[in-house]
Amino acid sequence: MIQQTKISLRNTGSIDPLSIDDYIAAGGFQAFEKALRQDPGQVISELESSGLRGRGGGGFPAGMKVKFTDKADRPFDGMKYVVCNADEGEPGTYKDRVIMEQDPHIMIEGMLIAAYAIQAQKGYIYIRGEYIDSIRKVEQALKNSYDKGYLGKDIKGSDFSLDLEVRLGAGSYLCGEELTLLESLEGKRGYPRIKPPFPANEGVFRKPTLINNVETFALMPWIISEGSEAFKAMGTEKSPGTKIFTISGDIEKPGYYEVVMGTTLRELIELAGGMKDGADFQAAILGGAAGTFVNASVLDTPMGFDTLKEVGATLGSGAVMVMDPSRSLYDMMASILDFFAHESCGKCVPCRVGTTLLVNMWKDVRQRRNGNRTEMLEKMEEEAEYMQETSLCPLGGSPIIPIRSAVQYFKNEF
Ligand SMILES: Cc1cc2nc3c(=O)[nH]c(=O)nc-3n(C[C@H](O)[C@H](O)[C@H](O)COP(=O)(O)O)c2cc1C
Ligand code: SF4
Repeated sequence: MIQQTKISLRNTGSIDPLSIDDYIAAGGFQAFEKALRQDPGQVISELESSGLRGRGGGGFPAGMKVKFTDKADRPFDGMKYVVCNADEGEPGTYKDRVIMEQDPHIMIEGMLIAAYAIQAQKGYIYIRGEYIDSIRKVEQALKNSYDKGYLGKDIKGSDFSLDLEVRLGAGSYLCGEELTLLESLEGKRGYPRIKPPFPANEGVFRKPTLINNVETFALMPWIISEGSEAFKAMGTEKSPGTKIFTISGDIEKPGYYEVVMGTTLRELIELAGGMKDGADFQAAILGGAAGTFVNASVLDTPMGFDTLKEVGATLGSGAVMVMDPSRSLYDMMASILDFFAHESCGKCVPCRVGTTLLVNMWKDVRQRRNGNRTEMLEKMEEEAEYMQETSLCPLGGSPIIPIRSAVQYFKNEF
């Protein structure tokens, strides 16, 4: 049976999360001190050649983003920022919380490495307000890091300085979207900004900003200490390294598992103790609400960003919700569509009206009203595609993802 390979979770369960001495004794901050001895350009090259892709859902090459922020083409008066996206709003996802609750210093070390690479002097950790324990532990870890000289002015005798502080979200799914997050972080209403400009050029307070997910930052210390080649030796060609999957639903041992990229869904379910009470597998949703429905034909597909895309599925944030045949796919889809209607900020018409329209269309599909089912599903796809093309931000483009996959894999079930 496949085993876990722990990089971002390597200290969880074995150290006291509130003790920086424990973290240091486990090798903590050595990667950052190694980075400090190098030229920032070398650190950027190492991150780039590792092939690390963002773990927040989009899978954008992390090293490339660091490079873009380093080479920001806007005037910025020497101010650059690093921001950690700890909003974790995607349904079924709870990995960032595990890192923050069990090893918050690893995220801070990753932020230090990235900040050094782009020479940022200031950073924020934007945590969802409901994550009380994460907030408490990250705040303590920040205090520890200041006390030990890993944050603040002229860190460890260098001329590199960094200040980090926590900012809280207030429960809006949309505020996990990077540009909306930056608006919220600045104290404004959580409405999205139009892209471009991207955060690398104009981020928080309109200055160049590197924004990454908690897990992405937590992988950086290992890459710097062990080298990009070692990272690339794990996982798939286009999705190297490890990934934390949060698996829930009809399985024996729901929870979080860090495994190499390319692990199959079958192997992951087996690692999580198999289907609950030995039931058959009916379906899984991969990647949360903005994710995809898959059937048993995907059980043996290696899970990586590209390999799943090839079969019309998504890796997303690593959320995996497993359903046995007793679960209603109708109910699942209805709950996803309700979620989008609830979380739409209402700023643009296609999404404000479209998300509610989809909820009603799905009720029609369920009750077999207004035409035959195939035509009704096609109409829903059309509507969701139209939303994707015309909405202001990616949330309006999200409902097409579960709808298209449900049609692809379960057309005959509806
Ligand atoms: C509606 C929406 C919600 C999102 N929520 C989150 C979130 O909670 N956490 C996160 O890390 N990324 C989230 N993202 C992705 C971010 O916009 C962004 O891609 C991410 O912070 C980049 O970090 P990464 O490159 O390390 O993945 C969301 C995107 C969208 C469109
Ligand atoms: S797409 Fe939806 S969430 Fe995004 S701006 Fe428009 S209404 Fe708001």
